Amino acid sequence: MCGIVGYIGKKEVLPILLDGLSRLEYRGYDSAGVAIVNGGGISTAKAKGRIAALKEKIEVMNLKGQVGIAHTRWATHGEPSERNAHPHFDCKGKIAVVHNGIIENFSELRKTLISLGHVFASDTDSEVLAHLIEKFYDENLGEAVRRALRSVRGTYGIAVVASDQPNVIIAARRGSPLVLGVGEKEYYLASDISAILSYTNKIVYPEDGEMIRISREGYTTLTLDNKFIERTPQEVEWSADDIEKGDFAHYMLKEIFEQPQVVRNTTAGRLLINEGSAHFGGLNLSDNELRMIDRILFVACGTAYYAGFVGKYMLEEVAGIPVDICTASEFRYKRILITPTTLVFVVSQSGETADTLAALREVKRKGNKVLGITNVVSSTIARETDGGIFIHAGPEIGVASTKAFMGQITTLALMALNFGRIRDLSASAGKKMAEAISRIPAQIEGILSRRGEIKEIAEKYKDAKSFLFMGRKFNFPIALEGALKLKEITYIHAEGYAAGEMKHGPIALVDKETPSVFICPKDTVYEKTISNISEVRARNGRVIAIATEGDEQLKQHVDDIFYIPRTPEAVAPLLTTVPLQLFAYYTAVAKNLDVDKPRNLAKSVTVE
Ligand code: M6R
Repeated sequence: MCGIVGYIGKKEVLPILLDGLSRLEYRGYDSAGVAIVNGGGISTAKAKGRIAALKEKIEVMNLKGQVGIAHTRWATHGEPSERNAHPHFDCKGKIAVVHNGIIENFSELRKTLISLGHVFASDTDSEVLAHLIEKFYDENLGEAVRRALRSVRGTYGIAVVASDQPNVIIAARRGSPLVLGVGEKEYYLASDISAILSYTNKIVYPEDGEMIRISREGYTTLTLDNKFIERTPQEVEWSADDIEKGDFAHYMLKEIFEQPQVVRNTTAGRLLINEGSAHFGGLNLSDNELRMIDRILFVACGTAYYAGFVGKYMLEEVAGIPVDICTASEFRYKRILITPTTLVFVVSQSGETADTLAALREVKRKGNKVLGITNVVSSTIARETDGGIFIHAGPEIGVASTKAFMGQITTLALMALNFGRIRDLSASAGKKMAEAISRIPAQIEGILSRRGEIKEIAEKYKDAKSFLFMGRKFNFPIALEGALKLKEITYIHAEGYAAGEMKHGPIALVDKETPSVFICPKDTVYEKTISNISEVRARNGRVIAIATEGDEQLKQHVDDIFYIPRTPEAVAPLLTTVPLQLFAYYTAVAKNLDVDKPRNLAKSVTVE
């Protein structure tokens, strides 16, 4: 999705803007641009494609100045092209605007502005902001932006500069993330802290519907109703090193390798092995209140949704609580049937996903509490929920979510223990599961040390055009997630299915060109899954199996096998997901694809 970077201070602004844009590349984009305030004018450069293309263009220009804004665009209105790239300008080229989000009433605003004589240079919704600000501009840029924003419907994170106000940037947000980084007589703006973390860790988080006026001397925050509010900087716990790739070829591989540590971080101080339970500080509900809960609902998107699906199996089987799951994009527009004793959780790595945020607001509007399972502590979802659990996975840069999923399902395993023990899960069963969770980090390390085996399998199958991923019970959602990982970064068609459903349709796809990945550990559905494997083999289908170590028998019935350590079935997803992540990763590498920047995808989906 789109990204914003801005700077005002004493340094040359261009390297800061370009560095910030490069750090936002992982979010997905199709064009980029900068605007620099300089000697009574604004210099600008835009390019379609990668930041590298923008840099090439800029090399032959003389872009100097200490105040500027920049943008990466992910097209919504108007094709990816140089003319649609941001910044956008008013008619006189005096005001430059970068915008994330969608202006829903742009069409009517554009018509009105054209009737007033404004001339548009792009097909974007965003350009109306530049012309609206121009319409209201009378030497007070902040006031013009404020009045302009009061006319628009939709979502925005914006940064605005004007050539005759060389010591000012105006920023505002509503529904799109935007933060202010505070330095020594210098300020940084970004839609994502990873763009500015190497310059400062002191961050101001404006709320929805707030504006910031920034100069070298300081900043003021006010609402669109013109009320001043105090927003002081907070220190972020992530460091600049956390967002570096280090010696890894890709962020995705680095993040797959960080998973043992993620499990340690997520369980630290929460997993109570001796009591066979878990404890969370942030739920803001007493054990008695939790006992009153008779249904849980997880709302999320993509991988986070599949984490909720794993959570459904864990909580139903371990804690005996009925759990529903719903994708946020469906949930937000359907009738919401929840009772006061339904506990609603939104699950989101970024905490900024537009559909998930809208679903959260809709539930709150109905008067229910909503809890969150998030990674980004300062995110909008983390701030708007009534409590929740942070997964402490550290910044996830790879577009294909891996370590965040691990943090989410680890959290859900802990939740199953916690909810189970305050109900009727026995201490011995709880202890067995808690001990199994404590062994997971070392077991994942063992799997990672055998990554070469997965690499070989991936290289063998890299030219397949389509894959089926199948599992049962706890591993059904892992099959869905395995298929999603493969399609996201390799562009190979893949379908995840409950193995038992295969004969109700997908078996028609089975032939020797369509390999099937079966997740088949020794669990309560092992024999059933073996039968499904036989059905595929009988139709000449090739089978790759994820199996429990020591299962020599299964080896006879499949083409390729990868072993994972033995663990109770409720905990198995924490292991079975790892070889599938590696499989997707090595297949993408074997196909020479850009693993960290898959086509068409964005890291966090901040538009509907
Ligand atoms: O930041 P969120 O967890 O809310 O993101 C949800 C999905 O957009 C995300 O999981 C997406 O499916 C990933 N690309 C999966 O790898």
